[in-house]
Amino acid sequence: MASDEVRAVLRTDYAGSGLGEEQLAATPFQQISRWVEEARARQEEQGDVPEPDALSVATVDEDGPDVRTVLMRFLDPRGPGFVTNLQSTKGRQLAGNPRIAASLTWPSMFRAVRFRGTAELVDRAEVETYFQQRPWGSRVSAWASDQSQPAGGREQLEATYAEYAARFPDHGRPEDVPVPEHWGAVRVRADQVEFWAGRINRLHDRLVLARVGDGDLDDAASWAVTRLQP
Ligand SMILES: Cc1cc2nc3c(=O)[nH]c(=O)nc-3n(C[C@H](O)[C@H](O)[C@H](O)COP(=O)(O)O)c2cc1C
Repeated sequence: MASDEVRAVLRTDYAGSGLGEEQLAATPFQQISRWVEEARARQEEQGDVPEPDALSVATVDEDGPDVRTVLMRFLDPRGPGFVTNLQSTKGRQLAGNPRIAASLTWPSMFRAVRFRGTAELVDRAEVETYFQQRPWGSRVSAWASDQSQPAGGREQLEATYAEYAARFPDHGRPEDVPVPEHWGAVRVRADQVEFWAGRINRLHDRLVLARVGDGDLDDAASWAVTRLQP
């Protein structure tokens, strides 16, 4: 683009209905659940919220922050969680520094939820229950991928996959493929949860729930609300 050209910027006014203090659910967990359910329902009905469970996850290491997208596979009053290779870049970063941030963003609904907190490992039993629900091919991939390491090429990846597919043949049973040792799930134990709702003229609503007690996300007494300027 020539320096004297001014690129037209697409400006969308965020005509969302907002989020007032009086609309906030009794606990952060109830508010998160409400918005997640509304995003999933909207995808079913209108199809404009692809991957409503897409969760951006930020970690940090000695070079600074790092971010990637995963899928939220757990959501309960302890926090949102995702599955991953624990020896991946994010896994190693979290082992060195468990501070973590995450966000769910639904642009077509003018909504986002942001989390800051500490990462903790999800219990092995919960991981195993989840793993058994994955399709066979995804379970094989968990073995075949040394996530975040250099790959020799596409052919090498497929050859490794084929080796594990032969080692753990598909008999249609959950126990056909065991959970790899290096594979697991991470939960975000939040100290802060922000609900962002886009409104007209960029005068958005931002309600931040900050931890004031040791309870979980469903313990009203453990959270205090502050409105932030947009
Ligand atoms: C929509 C979407 C969903 C993804 N879901 C996951 C996931 O659930 N778990 C995961 O480990 N990676 C997932 N990925 C891949 C990650 O973005 C990332 O490439 C990978 O985890 C390696 O990240 P790392 O090298 O920082 O550890 C997903 C990517 C996208 C775009």
